[in-house]
Order: sequence, then C-alpha cells, then structure tokens
Amino acid sequence: MSRLGDEARKVFPLKGRFETDFMFVTLGVIIGGTIAANAGYRVMRKRPKPVNRDIDVVLESVNRECDDVVSLTFVRADGSDFPEWQAGAHADVFLPSGRQRQYSLCGDVNDRKHWQIAVRRLADGDGGSREIHRLRSGAQLKLRGPRNAFPFIVSDKYLFVAGGIGVTPILPMVREAAARGVDWQFVYAGRSRAALPFLDEIAALDPERVHILTDDVNGVPAAADILAYAPEGAAVYCCGPVPQITALRREFGERPGTFHFERFSALPVVDGKEFEIELVRSGKTLKVPADRTALAVLKESVPNVSYSCQQGFCGVCVQKVVEGPVDHRDRTLTAEQREESMLVCVSRAPEGACVKLDL
Ligand code: FES
Repeated sequence: MSRLGDEARKVFPLKGRFETDFMFVTLGVIIGGTIAANAGYRVMRKRPKPVNRDIDVVLESVNRECDDVVSLTFVRADGSDFPEWQAGAHADVFLPSGRQRQYSLCGDVNDRKHWQIAVRRLADGDGGSREIHRLRSGAQLKLRGPRNAFPFIVSDKYLFVAGGIGVTPILPMVREAAARGVDWQFVYAGRSRAALPFLDEIAALDPERVHILTDDVNGVPAAADILAYAPEGAAVYCCGPVPQITALRREFGERPGTFHFERFSALPVVDGKEFEIELVRSGKTLKVPADRTALAVLKESVPNVSYSCQQGFCGVCVQKVVEGPVDHRDRTLTAEQREESMLVCVSRAPEGACVKLDL
C-alpha cells in the first residue's frame, strides 16, 4: 500500500478488499435479495401452483323433474363442505365410462353440503345424458369445479329467459334476484308444461313475475314478445336453444341494458373452410367440411375422444398437433400452448390445409 494511500485512508476511512464493509454487505444482501425475489416471483407467476379442484362425491338422490329430466344431488364423499359458488357456475362431471361433461349447478348457492345438477336425456346424443340417467343413489363419482363462464352481474332490473333445460343456470339467478327484492321478470318457454323442469318451484317464486309460454298453448314465442317483458334498461339473461338465443340477441340490438347468454350446444361454424386432419398414429385422414367442426368429424372415427363444452373454453378437447397450420379460435390456450396443440371443438385450419394430430 502506498503512503498516499495510507494518508487517504486516514481522511476517507474506506475499507479495502481484505476487510468487510458492513454497509456494502447489507446493501448487497438487500439488492441481491430483491433481484432473487423478483426472479422468483416471475417464475412463480409463470408456473402457478396447480389447484386441485377434483371432488369425490356420492350421489345422494335422483329426482325426476319432468319428462326426460332428472336432477341429481351430490354430497362430498368425506362429508365436508363444497366450495362456494356463484349463480351461473357449472361443474365438470366425470362419468364411470370416462366421459366428461359439464352441467350448471342449479341448487341453492347457500347450501354448502349439496351440489345439484339437472340433465335432460337426449335420445340422439352421444350417450352422456343416457349414462347419467342410469345412475342411482349411492354412485361414487368425481366432480371438478366450480367454474363460471356465465357470471351474474349486479343490477336492479333483470329479464330472465330460459328455454327448457336452459333453466339450470338461470334458476339460481332468479332465486337470488327474488331474495334481493329487485325488479325481475322471468320468461320460461318450452314445448309443453310437461317439458319444463322445476316448474312448481319457479311458478311459486312470484306468479306476477313468472311467464310460462309453451308451444302447445301459445305457439313459439317471438323474440320481440319475450323482450317486451324486460324492465327498461334491464340485464337480460338467457339460456336455451341456439335459435332462440340468436333471435333474442338480434332483437335486443342496441337497446339500453345488457345481454348475457349461455348455450349448451356446439357453436355454429362461422366462416369455415374445408380442411383435413391426419391422425398420425392410426394413419387416417379425415375431411372436415366447411360447416362442421374437427371435433364433430373426429367423434365419428374416435368415439371416445374427450370433449365437454364444445365452445372453446373448457380445454377438454385439446389435441397435440404434430404438424400443420392451425386457425386457433378458442379463448383458452396460451400462445405457448398453441404452438403444439389445438382445441378441436372450435379451431380449424386454412382452406385445403392438413393438420396432423397425435391420434
Ligand atoms: S370441448 Fe371445451 S374447449 Fe373444446
């Protein structure tokens, strides 16, 4: 060390590399810790801890609600409470055959000991509803949820519209509106009274506000006639057949208020072009016409292919893409996931292209 250095040390007591400066060490720890914590935070944000929402349940009771509709009430296998849920929520149901289906929760949101769904038996469906109708009390199943793609907004005026089994997500909303004492009206439509589940409970909520329109008595109601029941500026909630929802949306147009809907069936294909899917493991090539989905075509060759919502939000129908351009039309996959997979219920390919799937 030079003499000048020694003098300087006396005036400015800086410490050299062989001594420990606690101020810098402390700063280093703070800065280093902050950087590490931030890095860790980024990692944590990238890979959130998966939440296991699978629930083992026992089917407590099955009740016939009307022609072709049964309600099923479940309790948890371990006797504990179900998670909280909001009106409009649904649960995934894993059936003994391996099928996975989604059904709206239609019971009492305040009853944490029970979850209830209702299912119409579809004679020409793919077997899921028929399997549910064969279930008996005591059956053990797995549910997953709740999830809510049909949130119930706070408003002081509502019009509820349900077509047949479309009443299931609507019913908890009507109960809540009635309990809150707000202004509501409910149009409940179907082929006949015998085809309307939960009719007695609904009619008893408030006969002045419940309007039951059946085709056999009133004819098929026009969208304008249904919307005529809406209080000015109401939030309109609608669940039912696709033609009914489409007509109501069109008629609602630019009216004051908000329009909310949920369908049970597959989305119609819009602006589709014909393309092919190749199943690389089985060596089959399938043509997907412009007006059909890849899932609809796949189901004919791979009967046990998984799916649920058919609307691009549950993710159940995801398939690994080996090669080929995909026109992603879902609301679920991340950009990273889209690099190697597609949701075959909604996503397609450009005209004439071939997408190779790991099937
Ligand atoms: S079936 Fe739900 S995203 Fe395809």
